[in-house]
Amino acid sequence: MTQTAAFISTTKEKNPSLASMYSIINSDLRLVDDLILNLVKNEIPLITDIVTHIVASGGKRIRPALTLICAELCGYKGDRQISLAAAVEFIHTATLLHDDVVDESKLRRGLPTSNEVFGNKASVLVGDFLLSQAFQLMVGDGSLKVLKILSGASAVIAKGEVMQLMAEGEPQTGIDNYLNVIEAKTAILFAAACEIGAVISENIEREAVLHDFGMNIGIAFQLIDDALDYVANEQALGKNIGDDFREGKITLPVILSYSEGSGEERAFWERTLGDLNQMEGDLDTAIDLIKKYDTIKRTVDMAESYCENARQALLSFPESQSRSALFDLVDFCTSRAY
Ligand code: IPE
Ligand code: IPE
Ligand code: MG
Ligand code: MG
Repeated sequence: MTQTAAFISTTKEKNPSLASMYSIINSDLRLVDDLILNLVKNEIPLITDIVTHIVASGGKRIRPALTLICAELCGYKGDRQISLAAAVEFIHTATLLHDDVVDESKLRRGLPTSNEVFGNKASVLVGDFLLSQAFQLMVGDGSLKVLKILSGASAVIAKGEVMQLMAEGEPQTGIDNYLNVIEAKTAILFAAACEIGAVISENIEREAVLHDFGMNIGIAFQLIDDALDYVANEQALGKNIGDDFREGKITLPVILSYSEGSGEERAFWERTLGDLNQMEGDLDTAIDLIKKYDTIKRTVDMAESYCENARQALLSFPESQSRSALFDLVDFCTSRAY
C-alpha cells in the first residue's frame, strides 16, 4: 500500500465524516501527494529529508482535498486541479514549518516537529523553499486569476501570524481581533482552496460562494483547533496540548475565561500569559478555569454557527455526491478530535 493509500484508509477509520470526500477524490489526492514528493525527490538532501518527514508523517490533506472536490462540484473535467491542489498543500506545509518554529512546538502529526529534528534554521529555510515551489506550480498553471487568489492568501496568512504575535500575552484582546487573526492565518487558505476549484471550472458565479464556504469552515476549523489545544487527547491530535498556553497565545477559550474571571483569575492569566511567568501546575489551573466558564462548549457553539453559514452556502448547489461529501466535511470541522 502506498503511503497515501495507508493514510486515507486510517483517516477513514478514524473519522467516517471524511470518508465520503476521500472516496470521491482518492485517486486525485494520490496524484497530488506523488507530485509533491516527486518535486522534492532530487533536491539537496536536507530539503528532501524535511519535506519527506513532514509530508509522509500524515496530515489530513483537507485544503488540497477542498480544491479537488470543489472542482468536482463545479463539474470540472481537466487536470489542472492536481498541480493547484499541490500548490495549496505546499503553502500549508510551509506555514506549518514556520509556525512550529514560531510556536516552539515539539510534536506535529504524531512525530517530532521538523524544528526538533532538523533545527529552526533548516525549518525556516525549507519553508521558504516550499513557498517558492507553490509559486512555481501556480505560474506553471498559467492563470493570473488563480495566482492572484493564492498569492493573496499567502500574504494574508503571513499578516495573520504577525497580527497574532502582536496580540500575544494580551488576554484582554477582543473577540473581533481574535476572529480577524484566525480568518487571516487559517480561513483564507480554506477559502482560496475552494475558490480556485470554481475558477478552473470557469464557473464565475460560483467563485464567491465557494470562497464564502471555505472562509466559514476555516474559521470553524481554527476555533476547534484552539479548543483542542486545551482539551484534546494528544495521541489522537498528534500535537502537544498546552502549546498555546506556553506561548501566551490568546485564543477564544482564554478571552472568555479572562473577561468573565474574578480579579484573582485575571491576575493568573496576566502572570502566565502576559508575563509568561509559568510554573508547574499552571496549565492544569488554566484548563480548570477554561472549563469553569464552559468556554470549550461556547467555542464549539461558535464554530457550529460558522458551520451553519457554510451549509447555507452549499445549499445553493444542486444535490450531488460531492455536495453531500462537503456537508460531511462541515460536520467534521466541529466533531474532529485531531
Ligand atoms: C493545522 O492544520 C493548522 C491549523 C490551521 C490549525 P491541519 O489540522 O489541517 O493540519 P494537518 O495538515 O492535518 O496536519
Ligand atoms: C495555525 O495555528 C497557523 C497556521 C497554520 C498559519 P496554530 O499554531 O494554532 O496551528 P497548530 O495548532 O500549531 O497546528
Ligand atoms: Mg502552532
Ligand atoms: Mg493550534
